[in-house]
Amino acid sequence: MAKKVTISLIKCDVGSLAGHHIVPKPLFDIAEKNLSKAVKEGIINNFFVFNAGDDLQLLMAHEKGEQDKDIHKLAWDTFKDAANKALQLKLYAAGQDLLKNAFAGNVRGLGPGVAEMEFEERASDPIVVFAADKTSAGSFNYPLFKIFADPMNTAGLIIDPNMVGGFKFEIVDTLEDKAIVLQCPTEMYEMLALIGTVGRYVISRVWRASDDLVCASSSVSKLSLIAGKYVGKDDPVMIARAQHGLPAVGEILAPFMHSYFVQGWMRGSHWGPLMPVGLKASKCTAFDGPPRIVALGIQLANGKISSDDEGKPLVADLFDDPAFSIARHEAVYNANTLRRMGEFEPARLSAEDMEYTTIQQVLQKLEKRFTSLEKS
Ligand code: F6R
Ligand code: MG
Ligand code: MG
Repeated sequence: MAKKVTISLIKCDVGSLAGHHIVPKPLFDIAEKNLSKAVKEGIINNFFVFNAGDDLQLLMAHEKGEQDKDIHKLAWDTFKDAANKALQLKLYAAGQDLLKNAFAGNVRGLGPGVAEMEFEERASDPIVVFAADKTSAGSFNYPLFKIFADPMNTAGLIIDPNMVGGFKFEIVDTLEDKAIVLQCPTEMYEMLALIGTVGRYVISRVWRASDDLVCASSSVSKLSLIAGKYVGKDDPVMIARAQHGLPAVGEILAPFMHSYFVQGWMRGSHWGPLMPVGLKASKCTAFDGPPRIVALGIQLANGKISSDDEGKPLVADLFDDPAFSIARHEAVYNANTLRRMGEFEPARLSAEDMEYTTIQQVLQKLEKRFTSLEKS
């Protein structure tokens, strides 16, 4: 059997510079140091460290499969070390997403977010990695639908004979902890009935229907459901494979030519426009946003992220491009429009979605002061 490679993207907010804005250099340095050591020890093949706003992102190539204890422990220990540094520097919200104390073999359910995919490396395997800040897991439902199910976005769905059989989607019900697999185009309408409810249903995995080739994987963790209260938004990550019988890199990026609205932004309590940005603008400012997303393009070579002669991974910063400037402009314009509405819906999330935020404490105090309007 051909050797399999695993791509793991594991992320965590371990503390940030000036509020919930950006991961500062000393925390990157710790991640670089720990992961370089792990390469020497043969745990991972190579890696790339980056940030999505205040989230530290560890992108790792290895051969240990998904949900591997060593890989998850490496990420967990790295986040712990970085959080300790953040504490020393009195950075903001040090260790924010490390919700549990003990590591038990897997970071799932402990706070960090994970997207992982194990597969046989193709002759050439282009991959796009997405990471978003100040938003939640369901934010990828819309682009994943466009990429793998909408022929008006992905020309390959009608032009490439390898894709006309459609794609299968695993959808997780995050409230009831269960999942369903639906196939498009045959079950497209049923799927849309679920995934339009972005606060509850999350597309977690996509396969090509004709041969079950795995194409995409995204994180589904809901921090509020782990912690039982608001502790910052989930800030999701996603990995998608591209080209040669799969959507082209350009088709994977096309949904981001326009901004769209996602849950998150200030205090995880507002609808906000998602803004595609290059790494240099991967930092949240206005009203703690607007929510941002970065997209990195990589290739694989023999179990590693393809690298230059010095061993530095070759990474394309895909949204660092004027082709996305209209989306950025729309995001800023729509951000201003929504902010004019202040704390009135639909700028603020619905009462149901506010359930895990601190507004509940404010409302509880008023509860006993309500008097009945019924006549006695
Ligand atoms: C959103 C987020 C921020 C904070 C906000 C208040 O995910 O993390 O918008 O909710 O800055 O933070 P605290 O309560 O820590 O002052
Ligand atoms: Mg934070
Ligand atoms: Mg964040």
